[in-house]
Amino acid sequence: MSVLKNRLRRFAPAMEPEGNGANGHARESGEGRASETGRVVPFETSKESVTLSHERGPSGSEETRYALTGTRRPAPARLEEYQALKTKIHRDLINRLDLTRLEKIEPSVLQAQIAQIVERMLEAEATPLSMAERERLIAEIRDELFGLGPLEPLLNDPTISDILVNTYRQVYVERFGKLYLTGVQFKDNDHLMQIIDRIVSRVGRRIDEASPMVDARLPDGSRVNAIIPPLAIDGPILSIRRFGTIRPTIEELIRRGTLTPEIAYMLEGCVKCRLNIIISGGTGAGKTTLLNVLSSFIPNDERIITIEDSAELQLQQEHVVRLETRPPNIEGKGEVTQRDLVRNSLRMRPDRIVVGEVRGPEAIDMLQAMNTGHDGGLTTIHANSPRDALSRLETMVSMAGLNLSDRAIRQQIASAINLIIQAARLSDGSRKIVSICEITGMEGDVIAMQEIFFFERLGVAEDGRVIGRFRATGIRPKFADKLERSGFRLPSTLFDDTVELGASGSVWFEHYGLR
Ligand SMILES: Nc1ncnc2c1ncn2[C@@H]1O[C@H](COP(=O)(O)OP(=O)(O)O)[C@@H](O)[C@H]1O
Ligand SMILES: [Mg+2]
Repeated sequence: MSVLKNRLRRFAPAMEPEGNGANGHARESGEGRASETGRVVPFETSKESVTLSHERGPSGSEETRYALTGTRRPAPARLEEYQALKTKIHRDLINRLDLTRLEKIEPSVLQAQIAQIVERMLEAEATPLSMAERERLIAEIRDELFGLGPLEPLLNDPTISDILVNTYRQVYVERFGKLYLTGVQFKDNDHLMQIIDRIVSRVGRRIDEASPMVDARLPDGSRVNAIIPPLAIDGPILSIRRFGTIRPTIEELIRRGTLTPEIAYMLEGCVKCRLNIIISGGTGAGKTTLLNVLSSFIPNDERIITIEDSAELQLQQEHVVRLETRPPNIEGKGEVTQRDLVRNSLRMRPDRIVVGEVRGPEAIDMLQAMNTGHDGGLTTIHANSPRDALSRLETMVSMAGLNLSDRAIRQQIASAINLIIQAARLSDGSRKIVSICEITGMEGDVIAMQEIFFFERLGVAEDGRVIGRFRATGIRPKFADKLERSGFRLPSTLFDDTVELGASGSVWFEHYGLR
């Protein structure tokens, strides 16, 4: 029972104490063992997969429930025998099949036929297999023949957001912002190269010594980058950024301590009342996640247009139009930039424009849109502080080559942007909103800004966990009146710096159905 509990804990980050594994690395499964075919069977792969479902808990809150399903993996003693058998059957199968003719057969028919052939081959073998083992062996051989081999089970696990293959020996996955070393391995670097070839050739690309770096897409939308020797010194490297992984909800972020329910409530009001909001932070600070959560507050009757370099947002509203940029082709033609898309979106009668991340000259078009009635804009920016976000915006606007004076640029920014939310990944791997600032206008040549909430770091616990608390600065933001006028009530205690935020037992949790 305790083993099962431990396993469940690994899959249920919500139950995991934060700061577990100070550097964010933890070994996922020591049980996996390299085998002859290269396929290791960590318990979560294949038959023993993790299923995940959203269910409404008794309190009405959305709870992510995790459960282990499937049959048991073979006992370690049998593992070797099993792997040897798989290798043998796989090899025999390849020898017997005419791979060039396989292409012409309908995939479902082919898979059924292969399953039959494997069944027959198994009958001739001395090693007895249970039904479950037999099924798994067929699935694994199928993955080798038609899928992405050892990567398939990882790709089928919706809790995994990144898969990082560092040569054939090492595969890391990221779940909810933490990296885990899996027991998954390829047979050797040639085997890994085969899988990489399969990925890139599907999209009509090539990877070889002449072009040793390739970007590609999996059919499900996941982004893939492969880089091989001689550029990658130790062997092929494959990085997959998953698409369609489960994004946390606001309740989940509150539960994880990324923000408090009071702060969430204020942000909800800001989105509903159409403030223009920028989320700022470094790589992996949780900007996109936060953007996704904030976008969920956009009323369902609005027409939302999202613009991204690579589609990551998952909006639940009914009326969403998703646009994605296109890189230039090999001749350097056909590029469609974010700037093109922002301009085009204005002719699409948007109620809201959500830009995944501003990086360049599209900043000016976005600001102008915000200043000319397209308010309620949401975006993210790569910056280390709210002040830094402003100066980066300035730089981006000047990239557009409009010859605006510095002051004119700042004025555009100051009148467009209402709120900057600073997100950060702390030393213990947790993500927090560390500052929320309101832009109040210009003071001389400088954009005026006031902080409303911040996260105060108090120290680091023995286990590496960051200790701290969220605090109000005591300043009631100017936009509070706008919110109140729109009917969004902001109790005065919300901004009172003597009131503890996120206090356990606080009625604020109930607003989000927590506790
Ligand atoms: N509040 C959070 N708590 C825990 N993990 C988070 C949180 N926000 C994001 N993550 C994880 O951090 C990783 C990076 O998040 P993402 O939103 O893509 O960051 P960014 O857009 O800033 O690069 C993802 O794996 C995500 O699951
Ligand atoms: Mg991002």
